[in-house]
Amino acid sequence: MQLIDGKGLAKTIKEEIAVEVSQIKSTGGKTPHLAAILVGDNPASAVYVRNKVKSCEAVGFKSTLVRKEATITQEELLQVVADLNNDADIDGYIVQLPLPAHIDEDAINLAIDPKKDVDGFHPMNLGRMTLGLETYLPATPYGIVQMLDRYGIETSGKHCVVVGRSNIVGTPMSILMSRKTKTGNCTVTITHSRTKDLASEVRRADIVIAAIGIANFVTADMVKEGAVVIDVGINRVEDASRKRGYRLVGDVDFDQVAPKSSFITPVPGGVGPMTVTSLLMNTLKASRKEVYK
Ligand code: GUN
Repeated sequence: MQLIDGKGLAKTIKEEIAVEVSQIKSTGGKTPHLAAILVGDNPASAVYVRNKVKSCEAVGFKSTLVRKEATITQEELLQVVADLNNDADIDGYIVQLPLPAHIDEDAINLAIDPKKDVDGFHPMNLGRMTLGLETYLPATPYGIVQMLDRYGIETSGKHCVVVGRSNIVGTPMSILMSRKTKTGNCTVTITHSRTKDLASEVRRADIVIAAIGIANFVTADMVKEGAVVIDVGINRVEDASRKRGYRLVGDVDFDQVAPKSSFITPVPGGVGPMTVTSLLMNTLKASRKEVYK
């Protein structure tokens, strides 16, 4: 079993980005600038956004955090989005999800200028991804693709089973794994809450990508000997022995599954840190106008 060190890999990629940023600056280029909109006080979202902003600073980007109360109206939030679309200094931005229940997430997503959509959630960018065109890949799937690539994990002809069909992970991941690319060419099965006998589907997988948001959902009896296991889950479970009262666990029962796997990502320190580096890479692409001229 080999542990996939997402934290270490993310550090390496950030160092690579920092070198590129200093080259851009030393040649008089514009400093890449990422903005994030955070609505309300969801504690997990606040942590994620803080990490994104800190990472921007670490690589030499400019960053702007736009914080809004949970009571913001849809119209007011659409105005914030329009302002960022029109701000020439901002290369890319994200609207941290989830949004409060009274806000229509789809309407907000559609209002983001695809050129600045560094989360890659806009239909234009997802469509470009589906067609294999240059695009901003959604951060989590992009991070996973980079891990598979840099660890030299063979995907061609393998059977990949994705657990979960969310718009931001499961669905785009299933498409990327089947594309004709170095880290694609898999036969893909996407499983979800209505899948009959999900365990037997997962047992057929050479590569399992768990993104269902349920702590320890994937157990050892569901995993084939030698499988590659990618755990996207970040679930809080109560733990009185921890100062903060909880600990983070993935969607995979790591202790049970790790001995059966060939490669596995830990939680924390696996997929999570790679998500942030993907966002930085997309922002760099936006500032260089690599996707849209
Ligand atoms: N919430 C959970 N993951 C993400 C993400 O990748 N981007 C945004 N904007 N919100 C999220």
